[in-house]
Amino acid sequence: MAYEIIAYQPEHAAVAAELHAAGQPGTFLTSLGPAFLRALYEQMAESALCFGYVAVESAEVVGVVTGAVDSGAVFKELVLKRGHRLILPVLGSVVRRPAQIARIVQTLFYPSQIKPEPGETEMLFLSSREDRRGQGIGHALYWAFCEGSRQRGYSQVGLSVDVSNAHAVRFHERQGMHLVREFRIYGRTFRWYVLPLTWESPGHETHQGS
Ligand SMILES: CC(C)(COP(=O)(O)OP(=O)(O)OC[C@H]1O[C@@H](n2cnc3c(N)ncnc32)[C@H](O)[C@@H]1OP(=O)(O)O)[C@@H](O)C(=O)NCCC(=O)NCCS
Repeated sequence: MAYEIIAYQPEHAAVAAELHAAGQPGTFLTSLGPAFLRALYEQMAESALCFGYVAVESAEVVGVVTGAVDSGAVFKELVLKRGHRLILPVLGSVVRRPAQIARIVQTLFYPSQIKPEPGETEMLFLSSREDRRGQGIGHALYWAFCEGSRQRGYSQVGLSVDVSNAHAVRFHERQGMHLVREFRIYGRTFRWYVLPLTWESPGHETHQGS
């Protein structure tokens, strides 16, 4: 069945949050709960610092990619604009797992770990729905984000990936991303990858699928 890649909008926030929880089980942001993820994806839809795309098929969202031109600033916006909605879910998560406090503090230092460069966007989340993986949706969304970055005047896309997520590591390396550094956060090892937007990389022509 054909899918279409369209711009990420506020009405996609709920399903994007669900895809995040399903695609990133056991990760820190997912552990903060559905209310937190919903607020995060609503903020990303409204923020001038963010943009993204969804793959839509028969009016259903089957994949999402979101990213930012300054992820540290997006988290600050989230706290300033939606902090009142985050207090209860975050407190609940800390009460259940006190070690979350350390993870929250580490999140504040995330930008200093990835060391974003001028002219770079960060792909924050990419997922296709589990029953639609391996059909090119991830590839189409990835390259839509790269093209969106280029159109906004950026020259490089970066992203971090947990090394234990072997499928995602392989996926990003297959798109032509270069490993820049490894860093530790949340007790795990992550890799920071970048892709210069030269348009010599394979696959950038595919933004619509079937
Ligand atoms: C990584 C991810 C976005 C890829 O999305 P996708 O829609 O499966 O991507 P594609 O179909 O374009 O490519 C997937 C690759 O796996 C292969 N594949 C085949 N069957 C597959 C299956 N059942 N499931 C996943 N991948 C499969 C594809 O052939 C392709 O390989 P290739 O690059 O050698 O051609 C997806 O696995 C996902 O949503 N994972 C969970 C969330 C996540 O970890 N995101 C990344 C965080 S950095």
